[in-house]
Amino acid sequence: MKKLRKIAVYGGSFNPIHNAHIAIIQAFVKKFKPDKLLLIPTNIPPHKSAENMATGSERAEMCRLALKDMKKVEVCDIELKREGKSYTVDTLRELSEMYPDSEFYLIMGEDMFVSLLDWRRPEEIFKLAVICTVARGGGDLTQLYEMDEKYKALGAQTVILDMKKSDVSSTMIRQAVFNDKSISKYVCEDVERYIYAHYLYMNKAEINYPRFHKVLKSRMGEKRYIHSCNVALEAVRLAELHGADKEKAKLAGLLHDVTKETPHDEQLALMRRLDVPLDELTLLCPKLWHAISGAAFVRHIIGIEDDDIFNAIRYHTSGRAGMSVLEKCIFIADFTSAERNYNGVAKMRELADKSLDSAILFGVSFSIADLAGKNSAIDPNAIACYNEVVLNKMKESN
Ligand SMILES: [Fe+2]
Ligand SMILES: [Fe+2]
Repeated sequence: MKKLRKIAVYGGSFNPIHNAHIAIIQAFVKKFKPDKLLLIPTNIPPHKSAENMATGSERAEMCRLALKDMKKVEVCDIELKREGKSYTVDTLRELSEMYPDSEFYLIMGEDMFVSLLDWRRPEEIFKLAVICTVARGGGDLTQLYEMDEKYKALGAQTVILDMKKSDVSSTMIRQAVFNDKSISKYVCEDVERYIYAHYLYMNKAEINYPRFHKVLKSRMGEKRYIHSCNVALEAVRLAELHGADKEKAKLAGLLHDVTKETPHDEQLALMRRLDVPLDELTLLCPKLWHAISGAAFVRHIIGIEDDDIFNAIRYHTSGRAGMSVLEKCIFIADFTSAERNYNGVAKMRELADKSLDSAILFGVSFSIADLAGKNSAIDPNAIACYNEVVLNKMKESN
């Protein structure tokens, strides 16, 4: 009976997807004109994945970005959903049920092709799909063709496409990112931006400002990027004036809004993944999230573990009782950065130079009044901050 559809299946870790993968996809699409090509990122069990690797959903998202303009190519997450070790034979069985009356073409790299007899139930795989691979010129292809003969003798249908040699590999890309080398020749622009935005494969032990600027630019618009740079400058100035650590002020100021333009659902997913505890009020008020998700991003994703920097970002919108000098500098710098021009900014700047607490009181009163005016919920940390400063001032005047 004639099969209704041709479906190509290409599995791999895609950590990350790169131009050589895309070339293989294009070559097979051209050759077979499938009705659909499913790209299937394989699950990497946590114990096998070293720290600093991308998660399954990040790998799948990079695949989606890289393939967004290719018609009939889809990213399929059945192996990621299955968790644990995935066997190709199980995936093919599942796909045969999902797409009955289809002819499957299983695409794989040369290294996978030559080791096929070590896979689970190779003879069943041969029945379920045509086995496809690429022969890259330059290396010794004897083994590839020997195995091909063996598979055919076992009843397999195989296809070997000749392709130009490629030096690109995911390992090489991860190393390049780690060592701050450009990867723009090996991945598409969207994937490169995603890698920076999500701080994938980076050397987390390093304080690296050019890289932090790249992270910000890939996560936010020009206006907020300028604001972030200005807050860093203002925070350093205030730190010098009031005796906080200037380096920490620069880092916290620069990164304080790192997740401000991240969609709420992504911020929530990030906080859940990083086990950030969220109370009822916070859950109901997404406006409170960027300080929380930003602090978690800076600590866990960028790898800056300093508690004072964490708290300065965590409480930069609300303030809190018992703020450190650095926390106060960041809170105030967010109000007094060079591009700010609201009514009252001159007063705030004047107070900031004279007394951190007076500026905090001015800023937090402004925020509380603004929120109350809109009937919005007020973070209890803001009220605690307000009360502490007011009580201190009362004690001083008594
Ligand atoms: Fe902010
Ligand atoms: Fe800000």
